[in-house]
Amino acid sequence: MCGIVGYVGAQSALDVVIAGLKRLEYRGYDSAGVAVVADGELASTKKAGKLVNLEKQLVSHPLPPGSTGLGHTRWATHGGPTDANAHPHLDNTGRVAVVHNGIIENFAVLRAELADRGHRLDSETDTEVTAHLLAEEYAAAGDLAEAMRRVCRRLEGAFTLVAVHADVPDVVVGARRNSPLVVGVGEGENFLASDVAAFIAHTRSAIELGQDQVVELRRDGVTVTGFDGSPAEVRAYHVDWDASAAEKGGYDYFMLKEIAEQPKAVADTLLGRIDASGSLTLDEVRIPASVLREVDKVVIVACGTAYHAGLIAKLAIEHWTRIPCETELASEFRYRDPILDQRTLVVAISQSGETMDTLMALRHAREQGAKVLAICNTNGSTIPRESDAVLYTHAGPEVAVASTKAFLTQLVACYLVALYLGQVRGTKWGDEVGAVVRELSDIAGAVDAVLETMEPVRALARSLADKNTVLFLGRHVGYPVALEGALKLKELAYMHAEGFAAGELKHGPIALIEKDLPVVVVVPSPRGRSVLHDKIVSNIQEIRARGARTIVIAEEGDQAVVPYADHLVRIPATPTLLQPLVATVPLQVFACELATARGNEVDQPRNLAKSVTVE
Ligand code: F6R
Repeated sequence: MCGIVGYVGAQSALDVVIAGLKRLEYRGYDSAGVAVVADGELASTKKAGKLVNLEKQLVSHPLPPGSTGLGHTRWATHGGPTDANAHPHLDNTGRVAVVHNGIIENFAVLRAELADRGHRLDSETDTEVTAHLLAEEYAAAGDLAEAMRRVCRRLEGAFTLVAVHADVPDVVVGARRNSPLVVGVGEGENFLASDVAAFIAHTRSAIELGQDQVVELRRDGVTVTGFDGSPAEVRAYHVDWDASAAEKGGYDYFMLKEIAEQPKAVADTLLGRIDASGSLTLDEVRIPASVLREVDKVVIVACGTAYHAGLIAKLAIEHWTRIPCETELASEFRYRDPILDQRTLVVAISQSGETMDTLMALRHAREQGAKVLAICNTNGSTIPRESDAVLYTHAGPEVAVASTKAFLTQLVACYLVALYLGQVRGTKWGDEVGAVVRELSDIAGAVDAVLETMEPVRALARSLADKNTVLFLGRHVGYPVALEGALKLKELAYMHAEGFAAGELKHGPIALIEKDLPVVVVVPSPRGRSVLHDKIVSNIQEIRARGARTIVIAEEGDQAVVPYADHLVRIPATPTLLQPLVATVPLQVFACELATARGNEVDQPRNLAKSVTVE
């Protein structure tokens, strides 16, 4: 949440920062602001609303040119989305500017202290105290990085801070605890950002900042220390994504582009992980086979869409390995005192690698002695860094707030983990693993085929634009798909949407069915577990008998559903466990089109942020 950019170099800091903020706007978009240091003075401006409002303000009230600066795009925590609460925040002399991501938990105490010492605080934010403290500490220490370390030692909570001071025009400092911040290393210029997307147009050389570290950026150097001032070891890495990957590439929305990229994302996530004999070679999984053979329980922790991937993974893991597996909402996990030990494997799934709830869950698991394997899309992010091992999804940057290609690649990674566990533990023979892997390899083509046939789904979505409620039903792997379809619709179309296990319907939710209510039903293959299929066909009849308008997603050739489908969406035949990879795609397209028809912002739905770095 909140996007942060800092720059020092030879270019116009304002241009670099604004371009970077545009790439980070998915992190929060209720206000934005910038500050530059020019001619020994600090100049800043900020504005409520989207970045475009700030850009307009910069046209009517330009800032002087400067080559050191910072910027912020906000997702409000403390204080509403007003001009005054927008970042940067300044001290009373107007010479220090600070931007912040996270929550400073002890801000009320610090605020009262500052007020006692005569400081005037103008906003309702927790952030503003840091600007005042930094000004005081700089006056005492005469060094901005040291001042930042002193401030950080006083703060409680989660924070990324980036600051400039008019007295040191060629320096930007940053700090991080439990909140993301990466360094971009250029030639004669350096960058700080919440995410590499902000600077990949300039450099693909990056440095991960660790927990409780302060970084000082000058044109020709980067110095990293701990909050205590001790020198820190840093890990440099090369960013694989190129700048075009973070562009819309001719699509109206990032979400449309990301939906279309799914066949490639699925194929890329399989790439290099299967050897010639069809066995899995997951070299990244650094947890020794001897440890994996001893695992007696798998626990998956994740949030939102990633949690839905985890629900599907549970079915695959239990089916292929016979190890008991639970999938938990990361936000609930550690508060219920879960039973974990050295024989528990915890799988943390996260696109961003920064979701605070998931991070806290994995920390809790490691404290109990469990091994943690992360499934993550973002190199250099906190969750993989704090895990015992990581399997990266190769979806490329996902910019639209609603997750699409990340979900499909999370599923692929989960299947790989399940098969790998089966392979290592001998519950799956090599040829069985090879057979599933071959089926997985065919899925990219199947997703492509689904995408080719989406026009009727779009037309249907447009025809439902004035509805208030849509329900989603599924069984087995179709149930998490139904949850995912409902989540996409809620977040994009702002409609009441709920996913149910179809068998649960008659235990209450069937009371919701009324004439013409759209109900999407995800139908399992009639070939695999035909009993599941037959049961859901009965469920479709039950709701139709009560007036529901049925939108049936069913495999090609499934004739049994035809009489009961008001709208029939065909998907290619796949093995039962892999069906979510194709069945989810029409639901993504449906939600995206409904959002557009209702005039909503597709890439930046209201109240949301992509990377949820607060609990
Ligand atoms: C929904 C969505 C969210 C995320 C959730 C977890 O479309 O994007 O529900 O899936 O916030 O995010 P990550 O995967 O970054 O941990």
